[in-house]
Amino acid sequence: MGKCFPRIYDFAMAPLERKKLKGFRKNLIANAEGRVLEIGSGTGVNFGFYLPIRTKYVDAIEPNPDMKERSVKRIEAASVPIQVHLVGAEKLPFPDNTFDSVVATLVFCTIPDPEQALREIQRVSKPGSSILLFEHVRMNDSPFLAKIQEKLTPLWKKVCDGCHLNRNTKELILQSGLKVTHVNTYYKGLFVTMNCTNSKRR
Ligand SMILES: C[S@@+](CC[C@H](N)C(=O)[O-])C[C@H]1O[C@@H](n2cnc3c(N)ncnc32)[C@H](O)[C@@H]1O
Repeated sequence: MGKCFPRIYDFAMAPLERKKLKGFRKNLIANAEGRVLEIGSGTGVNFGFYLPIRTKYVDAIEPNPDMKERSVKRIEAASVPIQVHLVGAEKLPFPDNTFDSVVATLVFCTIPDPEQALREIQRVSKPGSSILLFEHVRMNDSPFLAKIQEKLTPLWKKVCDGCHLNRNTKELILQSGLKVTHVNTYYKGLFVTMNCTNSKRR
């Protein structure tokens, strides 16, 4: 787990955040209600978007201590109570059916075992809960751009602390058993927002 990536993350992302990503995050997180689990919260970029009229409490998980440390100011500035737990998504320290909503942004690209993380998310979230995702994904609609993603991935992984630029996260979600209720794609399919429901039985 790198120390350099947490240091540059906010600075490197700032232009894109201002231009577009902030809007994607805001719209998505406006739907997070009740007790919320946020996966891989990083420097806490999402923390300011939780609305106290909908979100009661956020348990965030983040395995990189340097990322967690950098989110402290945003926890203090947030309008809802937030606790960050230093763990990975593949083994969540919560009982079954704990959460009303789950939020994950730009994180499935980096999780070493995304299928296991999806199973854990389904386990700890309640039947009918909302799973709100914003991810960059493999650009399946453009074979040329997908090929560029493939070529860049080995270097990208080194620079961006394990991030797979070419990960087929949209397909992983579609195969996961979650009920996908709404999908939006942006930048020729590089980014996707997905609103899903945990359709497991009570
Ligand atoms: C690109 S950053 C995104 C941070 C934040 N979610 C955002 O939208 O800005 C990816 C994050 O995933 C975290 N991560 C890496 N492995 C993880 C795992 N197994 N479970 C949960 N998060 C993980 C990294 O530490 C990093 O903070």
